[in-house]
Amino acid sequence: MSKTDLFSPVRLGDIDLANRVVMAPMTRSRAAAGQVPNPLSVDYYRQRASAGLIITEGAQVSQQGQGYPDTPGIFNEAQVEGWKAVVDAVHAAGGRIALQLWHVGRISHPVFQPGGALPVAPSAIAAKGSVYTHEGMKEYPTPRALETGEIAGIVAQYAHGAAQAKAAGFDGVEIHGANGYLIDQFLRDGTNKRTDQYGGSVENRARFLLEVTAAVVDVFGASRVGVRLSPTNPFNDITDSDPAATFGHAAEQLNRFGLAFLHVIEPVVPGHPMAGPAGAPGVAGLLRRAFTGPYILNGGYDRDSAVQAVESGAADAVAFGIPFISNPDLVRRLQLRAPLAPADRATFYGGDAKGYTDYPALDMAAA
Ligand SMILES: Cc1cc2nc3c(=O)[nH]c(=O)nc-3n(C[C@H](O)[C@H](O)[C@H](O)COP(=O)(O)O)c2cc1C
Repeated sequence: MSKTDLFSPVRLGDIDLANRVVMAPMTRSRAAAGQVPNPLSVDYYRQRASAGLIITEGAQVSQQGQGYPDTPGIFNEAQVEGWKAVVDAVHAAGGRIALQLWHVGRISHPVFQPGGALPVAPSAIAAKGSVYTHEGMKEYPTPRALETGEIAGIVAQYAHGAAQAKAAGFDGVEIHGANGYLIDQFLRDGTNKRTDQYGGSVENRARFLLEVTAAVVDVFGASRVGVRLSPTNPFNDITDSDPAATFGHAAEQLNRFGLAFLHVIEPVVPGHPMAGPAGAPGVAGLLRRAFTGPYILNGGYDRDSAVQAVESGAADAVAFGIPFISNPDLVRRLQLRAPLAPADRATFYGGDAKGYTDYPALDMAAA
């Protein structure tokens, strides 16, 4: 039997990957008017189609779900048409692509909200920090705590987004349960102080994630649905008093669906911006054991650590974020042990083709 290596094929649910190098979801804030994917995004994703699986930037499932300028949506027909062009291009290039379903919760501002309303969250607790808007930086407002009776409607937003993603032809969807956005705000006890069935115990805090997952699975089929979690990432001013208990429970409960994958961010390099407090124990290994389906790891991986993660069985695939921004042919470069081009942070968010579609592939770089 051939050894399982980073460059060998793998099946995540019903999604067949040519290799185990996944492109991590990355917001690039270049959507056109109406939150429609920019035509440049067709080239951007096509250039990266040799990834075993592309997970798109987060796409808001509703206007309420938006928290940054010029992020694409997945809630109306024009947006579906925009995404269709992206999906078709990636498929024509032989790739696979899943859309990330996103609702930011409290990480927003009335400038993005329907009717200038307050953003919504499990509890009325503001995130420390400021949000970038077209009118400059603005402090996060104190969000409005969702009424119990409203939550089914938010779950329905995710289901609608999933239906739209299916209509656009995506191979699957990833539910964004990470990085301090709405689902994570429900999961972690620093942001969830509810006293109804969505707050308090780990069982109650996981309820929203599980209801969203059930609704998305109903639309797309479990074998094409993944979930992303970031148990120890402090980004967006979020904390949990016991990540092992909270996320161990969530991972175990997700087993009931038979999902395509669980995708966990837990940085492997010190000083990574998504790393938890220094010295705090990681939980990725515990989640690997708790979750019985395919498992993707992410966070500061390079060739050696990714090879090691797959060969040791710590993960079935590894997602790369920043390296994919500046290396469209990342898989080939890793295979060849070729040098990686550095990414220019100044062009991560917003702008045009510069820093987006103009990073050359190896042959062109050498020419
Ligand atoms: C520019 C940028 C945008 C990102 N946007 C998203 C996003 O939309 N959804 C998400 O789940 N993670 C997002 N992330 C996090 C990445 O998916 C990934 O977890 C992170 O970059 C760590 O992986 P890396 O060390 O390989 O870059 C973003 C990261 C960057 C650098």
